[in-house]
Amino acid sequence: MVDDEGARESDFDWRVPASIPLPVEPVDNPMTEAKFQLGRHLFYDTRLSVNGEISCASCHHQSKAFSDGIQRPVGATGEVHPRNSQSLTNSAYFNNLTWGNPALATIEQQIMLPLFGDNPIEHGIDESNFEQIIMTVQADETYQRLFLNAFPEQDDPLLGDLAWDNVVKAIGSFVRGMTSFNSAFDRGDLSASARRGEALFNSERLECFHCHDGYNFSDATIDRGVAFLEPKFHNTGLYNIDGMGAYPEPNTGRHEVTGNPDHMGQFRTPSLRNVAVTAPYNHDGSVATLEEVIRNYARGGRVIASGENAGDGRISPFKDGVLVPFRISDAEVDDLVAFLESLTDHDFLVDPRFSNPWESTGENL
Ligand code: HEC
Ligand code: HEC
Repeated sequence: MVDDEGARESDFDWRVPASIPLPVEPVDNPMTEAKFQLGRHLFYDTRLSVNGEISCASCHHQSKAFSDGIQRPVGATGEVHPRNSQSLTNSAYFNNLTWGNPALATIEQQIMLPLFGDNPIEHGIDESNFEQIIMTVQADETYQRLFLNAFPEQDDPLLGDLAWDNVVKAIGSFVRGMTSFNSAFDRGDLSASARRGEALFNSERLECFHCHDGYNFSDATIDRGVAFLEPKFHNTGLYNIDGMGAYPEPNTGRHEVTGNPDHMGQFRTPSLRNVAVTAPYNHDGSVATLEEVIRNYARGGRVIASGENAGDGRISPFKDGVLVPFRISDAEVDDLVAFLESLTDHDFLVDPRFSNPWESTGENL
């Protein structure tokens, strides 16, 4: 829902151009600069993990638009995550979070998973260690100051369960503040090749714009002007391992959560902002380059010739009807890639506002 009241109360500077609507703010966690700055410290702090080795930034690197450049990341205790680390570009604008989960409506809900989840273990915080971990936070003078600034209405924002609630709210505020709308595309500064790529992207032949639509290049975009959005998920024909459309476990997408057989292989449309720096691609990082992504669409799905995931995604019964094969020349592939590259906001990748605040002191890296 649109939260007019929270929106009015918040004095947060979103750094979003006037042409773009502002994101929705949760009623119980309106944006403030103080929470954003506290969240920034927590995001980069490896002390928030079972063995002091993992922070959010371990899998979300600013230089890669907060993705990590590898196929699938490894959590604190060595468990491999089944999916590719997502970019955090404009997370505030998604109707539902993660690759394929329709149940995660807010960033705060999503953050509980890496912090406290055990399937897979990421930060590895649980009942056996959370008191000790919060004690190290409580003992830190920087945090004492930052928590008081961020939660001025609370007498002791670092006390007991409240402290964890505040941790989640602050990290949520930092991630929500990661807006990115300053690419060459936004400035209207496209090369001739990128301009041809843009026309291809928006053509009825390629159909990209049907799902990657609007200012955030995703049909799962929500903002203050949108009261309600039907959840939208699509199967893009990446797998068909049993001839009946199956995706490899556990990455069956929306189906993994709903159990509905019709939801097999359905994923949320990712934004394409900053996509040129977030390789490898797709929900499991199984596609190495943008060119390969485009070739899979051109074929009308991916064909895997051998191995345990062998199958012809082109003939999957679950593939979205919009996706039909198209012919594309090598020069046109180059143009489309040039267009996707024009969506990179180079300032976002180096903006000190989103960088590691501990770095100047060398602590807790
Ligand atoms: C071990 C690597 C790892 C760590 C640590 C990690 N993440 Fe992630 N993150 C991922 C992966 C993988 C996904 C995709 C999850 C999925 O689809 O199930 C993801 C997804 C997300 C998303 C959803 C983005 C979107 O577009 O929907 C957000 C937000 C996020 N992470 C924030 C965080 C924050 C904040 C932290 C620290 C509390 C964190 N992550 C720690 C790997 C990690
Ligand atoms: C039917 C909806 C739909 C259409 C049409 C579509 N996409 Fe996608 N796109 C998706 C979904 C859903 C995913 C994620 C699929 C997955 O990983 O299983 C995706 C993933 C991608 C990715 C990988 C992003 C990442 O972060 O890993 C790129 C790049 C991409 N699409 C570009 C395009 C281009 C270019 C076109 C036109 C040729 C196109 N898409 C057409 C829905 C669509």
